[in-house]
Amino acid sequence: MARVLVTRRLPDGGLDPLVAAGHEILQRADDAPYTPDELRAAVAGVDAVVCLLTDRIDATVLDAASRLRVVGNVAVGYDNVDVAAAHARGIAVCNTPGVLDETTADLAFSLMLAAARLTSEAERDLRAARWTGWSITQYLGRDVHGATLGLIGYGRIGRAVARRATGFGMSVLHHTRTDTGEPGWVGDLHRLLADSDVVSLHVPLHDATYHLIGPAELAAMRPTAVLVNTARGPVVDEAALAAALTEGRIFAAGLDVFEREPEVHPGLLAAPRTVLLPHVGSASVATRTRMARLACSGAVAVLAGESPPNLVTV
Ligand code: GLV
Repeated sequence: MARVLVTRRLPDGGLDPLVAAGHEILQRADDAPYTPDELRAAVAGVDAVVCLLTDRIDATVLDAASRLRVVGNVAVGYDNVDVAAAHARGIAVCNTPGVLDETTADLAFSLMLAAARLTSEAERDLRAARWTGWSITQYLGRDVHGATLGLIGYGRIGRAVARRATGFGMSVLHHTRTDTGEPGWVGDLHRLLADSDVVSLHVPLHDATYHLIGPAELAAMRPTAVLVNTARGPVVDEAALAAALTEGRIFAAGLDVFEREPEVHPGLLAAPRTVLLPHVGSASVATRTRMARLACSGAVAVLAGESPPNLVTV
């Protein structure tokens, strides 16, 4: 029996693999995130940690965990975990690939539609009793159907968005660093930005994707274009995006992720034609439950000396 720290509350049934394996589960009663000091104290003496993207698992945390064998991150993105430091200490890292693609793609699509059709602004006006009657010139958005979608990153989630786009009669382009050899690949990022009506981000966060969308990239976009981010906040330079929206250099943005969550750049809060969501891309009951189970089952497998399919290998 191993000791497993679960840093936050998980959806009902999420802990099942740990329970079935008979491991001792250490979990606080409340759902408050650990502070870095609390986390360093909590990992001492545990064999496994099941954590969320709000937990920063850096070298100082790993060094405080002398028995740690595996980190199960309940997220597909693992930029919150120093994977190189973990591997250097012989600690495995698991994530949750595959189980959230369709749910996240649904959310990306809803942000695309909401931002392009100005639904947040229209609803805000209605709720605030500022809607005084129908007018033919009110809330004029941009059509999503028939538009050109530019996907940046073409992994499982990007492809799930592409599948939805075909149903809307969209032309789909994608940009990745290496040629996918598939129709629609555009090697030049700025070319894709210039040719797209909607740009949707589906890259992981790492050094090469930090501020991938900055002032020059926003300048390359069409003034009628919509930007959607369901990946990670720091992929976009928020100050530059807020300026572009405010000055009307792009049409609209739909954002589910932010550079310093839960803080939201004040410029974005003030910007027009902006739909802002609190990182809910994978937030359906079924998907969040699957994610929790997958991270836990990865930890169980590593503790049993196995190599689970959701092992992070980079
Ligand atoms: C959510 O953002 C995830 O990476 O799973």
